[in-house]
Parts: sequence; structure tokens; C-alpha cells
Amino acid sequence: MIEFKDVTKQYEDGFEALKGINFHVKEGELFSLIGPSGCGKTTSMKMINRLIDPTSGQILVEGEDIKKKDPVKLRRNIGYVIQQIGLMPHMTIGENIALIPQLKKWPKEKYLGRVDELLDLVGMDPSVYKDRYPSELSGGQQQRIGVIRALAGDPPIILMDEPFSALDPISREQLQDELLKLQEEIRKTVVFVTHDMDEALKLSTRIAIMREGEMVQIDTPDKILRRPKDKFVREFIGEKRLNAQMSDPIAVDLMQERIVTIGPKRGLAEALQVIRKEKVDKLFVINKERELLGVVTLEDLTNHYQDEEKIIADIMEPEVLKVYTDQTIGEIADLFSNKEVNAIPVIGEGKVRGLITKASIIQGIAEWRHKKVVNGDE
Ligand SMILES: Nc1ncnc2c1ncn2[C@@H]1O[C@H](COP(=O)(O)OP(=O)(O)OP(=O)(O)O)[C@@H](O)[C@H]1O
Ligand SMILES: [Mg+2]
Repeated sequence: MIEFKDVTKQYEDGFEALKGINFHVKEGELFSLIGPSGCGKTTSMKMINRLIDPTSGQILVEGEDIKKKDPVKLRRNIGYVIQQIGLMPHMTIGENIALIPQLKKWPKEKYLGRVDELLDLVGMDPSVYKDRYPSELSGGQQQRIGVIRALAGDPPIILMDEPFSALDPISREQLQDELLKLQEEIRKTVVFVTHDMDEALKLSTRIAIMREGEMVQIDTPDKILRRPKDKFVREFIGEKRLNAQMSDPIAVDLMQERIVTIGPKRGLAEALQVIRKEKVDKLFVINKERELLGVVTLEDLTNHYQDEEKIIADIMEPEVLKVYTDQTIGEIADLFSNKEVNAIPVIGEGKVRGLITKASIIQGIAEWRHKKVVNGDE
């Protein structure tokens, strides 16, 4: 949807604000840019609607180089929300919201309907607020208008530059919740600039962490918390949040190490013996490197038992449901509830590490809680 290719920006005074950045915002994403003051967030964002042009590199919107687009037309299809709201003081709220739809020459009844619809969407009664002037609203209310005004012309893309940072914590949280709800309903592609890590973690599908004109890490909130790329990112997230993240057990916390396996070249009779001795209903097939190759069940073995020529590799099922060591308990629980499985192998760095069964989840939670208490996390 929005793609930056080796984009640089050198301001007239020679200052290099962006040193060749690359990223790709997918359709329907809420993509956050975060980083210390001066790292280039606003510069990057203003390039998307051509308020600033890059010194070199290319920016594509919906596959088209925006250099070839008329900036005015481009901007009509990109909503823009900034911290200082920028409502027209001499226009009523209704007129402010209708501005872009009017420029787009929507028929009157359509844009008037749109004004009411959008005010309703953020819980502001149109009959009360439509004819007021911006100065007759609170800061939080004005900011809501700023957000819905950006939505008014139904643009596929919305840019938001620290839209909530001037608000008190309560209005701010309310507006964040409203944005999340809005996003569920209308799913725009949103690029969101913020200073606030909690805000980025709460709202984003992915977060780009910037530093001095460069992209340091682009990942989902979960990945950022689990796998901060370097010390800068760790410090930026803060140790407190990294520790809090411990509160969600992952596969490696829940698995048992015991997993009954067999090599692919073994015979079927031997496999049956293992199954009986270990009292399991299936064997996971692994090679010497402990890579998972497949699974054989007791049923498969009994069905093929007569055929003395066959080895495990011939009858195993190569498609095996598996999880990775860092998958969360929520994802794992979903797998157990959606599929008819009783045991899922855990893979880490390409190798089989252990097994999760329903029983091991419960055991795992107990042990993991105990560990947390001992570590003094609770
Ligand atoms: N017109 C300009 N001329 C020269 N330097 C500029 C200009 N505009 C911005 N800069 C510099 O470019 C760098 C990036 O600015 P930008 O506004 O993108 O930062 P930011 O990440 O949005 O910061 P903040 O979090 O404070 O809003 C800063 O060091 C800034 O001083
Ligand atoms: Mg800025």
C-alpha cells in the first residue's frame, strides 16, 4: 500500500534527517513510527502526502510513484491528523468535517449525512455539536473532530502525527480505544507517529522503531517485546515492559521435554514395540539433526504391519501440526480447540525441543507461576 525505497532527506542546511529508509505498510495496517525526538518520524510521514519531497529514493502509494501524482489530488485521498488539530476556527464543526467531501464535490445530502454519521461514530450527538465552533469544544472533543474529519472523504490512507499527545491521560485512552474500534469497523491503512511506547503497543499491527534517520527494527508489538533487536530498542521499550511481558507463558514454558521419537529408516515392528513400551499413541519421526520429518500413529502402524518391506519413511504422515518455542499460550490453546490433536511438538531453531499436550499445558502453567513467584515478579 505504502512503500519506501531507500528514501533519504537532506534539509537545505545540510542536515541528513533520513539516511535511506525502507519499509512497506500493508493495506489495513495500523503502522506506527516511534523513536526519540528528531529521529525523522514527521519527516517520513509528511513525505507520504508530499508535504516534503525526498532527496533521493522512491515512495510508492498503491504501487504508483507519488512523484508522478498531483500533490493536491494525492492529499484528498490521504487523511491527515496532527497534534494541533488544525480545525478552521471560523467554521462550525459540521463545516469542518464536510470540507474535504465538498472539495471532492460530493452531493450535499451525502456529505451532510456523512457529518452526522461520523459524529455518531465517536459518540458526539450531531444535533448538539454540529453547529458549534471549535472553540466551544474541549481539547479531547476537538481532537475527535480532527480524527473524523480525516475520515470524512473516505480516504484509503490516514496519517496521524502524535494525534493524542496533547490530551490528558483519560481522554487519550478513550480516543485510543475509539481509534481501535473505528479501525475494526472501517479498516483504513493508518500510519501513526507517536512518542509513547504504550500507545504504539496498544494500537499497532506493526511498529517501526527509528533512530537518527534510520530504521532500527520493524516488527509486530509482540515480536518487539520478545525480540528487541538491540540495546537501543531494549532501552526504548524499558525493562519494566520487557519484564511485564513475562506474564504470558510461551511454548517453551509449557512443553514437556519428553517426546517419543523414531528415525525414518526404522522398521514397523520396531516402531510398534516402542509405542507399546512408551505407552503413547504416535511417534514423531526425526532425523539425526532432530528435525521433524513426520508422524506415525499406532493405527498407521497396525494397518501396514503385514508389509515387511516398508519402513517408517514410507508410511509416515509428513504434515505435522507444530508450534514454535516462542508461541503464546493463547495461540496454542486455539490449536487444541480447533483441531483434533492431543499432542503438538515444539520446534526451536529448526529442531524438535519437546511436546505440548493438554496435560503439559496445565503442568507448565503451574511450574511457570511457581518460577514467577520465586523470581518475585508477583
Ligand atoms: N526544515 C528543516 N530544516 C532543517 N532541519 C530540519 C527541518 N525539519 C526538520 N529538520 C530536522 O530533521 C530532523 C528530523 O525531524 P522530524 O520532524 O522528522 O523529527 P521527529 O522524529 O518527528 O521528532 P519529534 O518527535 O520531535 O516530532 C530533526 O533533527 C529536525 O531538526
Ligand atoms: Mg514529529
